[in-house]
Amino acid sequence: MTDRDHAAADITVDVRIDRADWARHLADETARGLRDTPPWIPPVWFYDELGSKLFDEITRLPEYYPTEAERSILRAHADEIAAVTGATTLAELGSGTSDKTTLLLDALHRAGTLGRIAPLDVSEEVLRDASRALAARFPRTGVRAVVGDFHRHLDALAMDGTGLLAFLGSTIGNFEPADRARFLASVGRVLGDDDWFLLGTDLVKDPTRLVAAYDDPAGVTAAFNLNALSVMNAELGADFDPDAFRHRAVWDGAAGRIEMHLVAIRSQVVRLSVLDLELRLEPGGHLRTEISTKFRPGQVADELAAAGLRVERSWTDPAGDFLLTLARPRPRSVRR
Ligand code: AVJ
Repeated sequence: MTDRDHAAADITVDVRIDRADWARHLADETARGLRDTPPWIPPVWFYDELGSKLFDEITRLPEYYPTEAERSILRAHADEIAAVTGATTLAELGSGTSDKTTLLLDALHRAGTLGRIAPLDVSEEVLRDASRALAARFPRTGVRAVVGDFHRHLDALAMDGTGLLAFLGSTIGNFEPADRARFLASVGRVLGDDDWFLLGTDLVKDPTRLVAAYDDPAGVTAAFNLNALSVMNAELGADFDPDAFRHRAVWDGAAGRIEMHLVAIRSQVVRLSVLDLELRLEPGGHLRTEISTKFRPGQVADELAAAGLRVERSWTDPAGDFLLTLARPRPRSVRR
């Protein structure tokens, strides 16, 4: 064995879905959404290279408070999370390279418990790059990556010792209530008695602020929303004309969520050749591109409880805009 072999990073990648599976899954979901009334699309269409850059820009907008709010909570409490959990594996839904994940990893490293990182992401390419970056930053830490989908492959997460499963950024806000319940139930199922779940959720607040966070005056969110049409043109052989739509963000107080829409500004028929489907829109008709659920006090704890998880600690930022919740499985003997 050469020195090079000794230095080689300890990385494995478990591929649970390949590109073709994922493309088929997305096509099916999109066709289902476009046949619905009103029509909707899965928000994954935002995130090509340009869309990911635009999202990054959104997170730095003064109106888009969630990113900085969650970061400030982690800055204040990452060491406490490390001490309370004693986690040896950090599993993360998402590639695991955000600066927020790094705050957690640094804290676990300082505490001396970090032994393994287990990121799960749908893009093999993103995950391989992220795994190399993680292994370079934490050289004595094994990386066990899973290419998979939040809704189907949590069981593939290789948590060694005490696991801490992190789902940050209020990404859970994108799920419909039934999907959210199913997802949380699967978290409850895959976690062992000694494991932990760390969940970031945005909170209900003044609708004016909420709408501004999703309809910024610089138009970055509008560009991000409209970009989904170009991505579908490329990936689904569609002929959306982005100039025929405008961005809209609406607060639905009853559902407790922001919805992003693309509103048709003229009558049009869009053809999506890969789906063998035509979408007809009248002026003012819309396509829903994303839901972003905002949680009420107590709601997160209630939904976790329904999934067999009990809140151990929770924190908000000083303004009370965002909630970070640390939960663990209720002892199995007590569960129904
Ligand atoms: C990445 C899903 C958490 O819902 O706030 C930001 C995405 N959309 N601006 C969110 C988003 C418009 C974001 N999440």
